[in-house]
Amino acid sequence: MAQAQPISFNRHPYADGSAKKMLIDGQWVNAASGKTFESHNPATGELLATVAEGDKADIDSAVAAARRAFEGPWSKFTPFERQNLLLKFADLIEKHFDELSTLDTLDMGAPLSRTRAGKLRVLGMLRFYAGQATSIHGETIENSLPGEVFSYTLKEPVGVVGAIIPWNSPLTASIWKIGPALATGCTVVLKPAEEAPLTPLRLGELALEAGVPPGVINVVPGYGETAGAALAAHPDVDKVAFTGSHLTGQAIVKASAGNLKRVSLELGGKSPDIVFADADIDAAVPGAAMAVFANSGQICSAGTRLFVEQRIYDEFVGKVAEFGKGLKVGNGIDPEVQIGPLVSQEQLSRVTGYFDVGQKEGASAVVGGKRLTEGNLGKGYFVPPTVFANVRDEMRIAQEEIFGPVISAISFKDADELVKRANATNFGLGSGVWTRDVSKAHKFAKAIRAGSVWVNCYQAMDPAVPFGGYKMSGYGRESGIQHVEEYLNVKAVWIKTA
Ligand code: NAI
Ligand code: MG
Repeated sequence: MAQAQPISFNRHPYADGSAKKMLIDGQWVNAASGKTFESHNPATGELLATVAEGDKADIDSAVAAARRAFEGPWSKFTPFERQNLLLKFADLIEKHFDELSTLDTLDMGAPLSRTRAGKLRVLGMLRFYAGQATSIHGETIENSLPGEVFSYTLKEPVGVVGAIIPWNSPLTASIWKIGPALATGCTVVLKPAEEAPLTPLRLGELALEAGVPPGVINVVPGYGETAGAALAAHPDVDKVAFTGSHLTGQAIVKASAGNLKRVSLELGGKSPDIVFADADIDAAVPGAAMAVFANSGQICSAGTRLFVEQRIYDEFVGKVAEFGKGLKVGNGIDPEVQIGPLVSQEQLSRVTGYFDVGQKEGASAVVGGKRLTEGNLGKGYFVPPTVFANVRDEMRIAQEEIFGPVISAISFKDADELVKRANATNFGLGSGVWTRDVSKAHKFAKAIRAGSVWVNCYQAMDPAVPFGGYKMSGYGRESGIQHVEEYLNVKAVWIKTA
């Protein structure tokens, strides 16, 4: 296939500045309130679209539609039919992938070099869930009751799922919620992030085109405090699948208490990435750098606490800084660009705020540490890859999620103490170990309290391998057969045969 040319915002069919409605019950509708909000390109400030702003009333309509759909013809779809639907949806996404990845780039800033590279993963996810649709099974279980009593389990879809996603990877995040729902026979009300609603809306169009019945997938853009909160609290939602900050995760758990809905949470982190002196340094430098700089650091599992063995600390940190300096920062619509802008003014203020915090705490920025404003960069929310050296464990830049391209480099000498230090965080999402010593690698893989451990690599992901958090990084798993279980109920059936 010929490589698509970058599409400028005013030629993108879905980001031409026009009005976008929300998807409820297979229909494109305005918000009940008539309100709208704007979505802008964070690299240029340009208006991409005016979007219907959903709130409680629209969430109510969408949940009612999702409930009707759950009980309607959708409930009669066989696993094979759901599988075919997912495969058709995947084919359509493949056909439109350049358009979708460009839309992600325009709406939230990640460079095309990144959004396009996600193609195999996104398609692989949908096709993995398609496979899962025909692999759902209960068990027959031997029991010890007297007489003849037969027991078995049925797996049933959990019902109406409220999916609340962030802006850092709208396409992937949407698929990660829609895929398991379609595989299991659930229905979805998807609430995209206010910063990046366009790709999820376009996916809603493609879902209809694929033949997803009305009401099975509803997309209601709007703000977290209104639309998101209404979805989390809704008495007729059976499960909330959330990705975002731990603070919002806590609000969602509280809101869910009204009907004790099921909740899965994929939250943030402050993941340790550990480099031993015996590591393959040429591999570890770009690995550790991109573990944080990729997507401008806006990745939940970014390896932001970089622990480096003392005797190679200066050399290694210097090389990571050098690598960061060599990355091309700019408008991600340029295919050469490696680092795009942050998503919003809010995130820019947050990240530059941490630049100040780091300096005040006595860490030194070996590279970066200041907003970029030269030329066109001034129109967007650009910060450079940044490496703070001389960071101590207790500093805020070593404890708090910054969500920017900011490495906090910490030195260590004692490997035993290191386990304690690496685990001394409220989070537990990702972690990395760079070493040539197999036994060291295994020891750390076991000792680190996090949902993923990457050895001599970072951020490896596959639809078949579960991903999720320990501690305040949340609970529940996405990807893998575990993910599908999150969307299923288990029913025990007892049959007296005597
Ligand atoms: P957020 O967690 O507030 O937003 C994520 C989603 O939750 C959005 O769709 C938002 O509208 C919704 N939301 C917000 N408040 C809600 C509420 N009360 N009830 C229901 N839904 C609600 O994250 P935000 O504000 O975009 O970013 C703030 C910080 O959160 C970032 O700087 C970063 O540290 C962290 N974050 C972590 C992410 C991750 O993947 N782990 C993703 C996004 C943000
Ligand atoms: Mg927020």
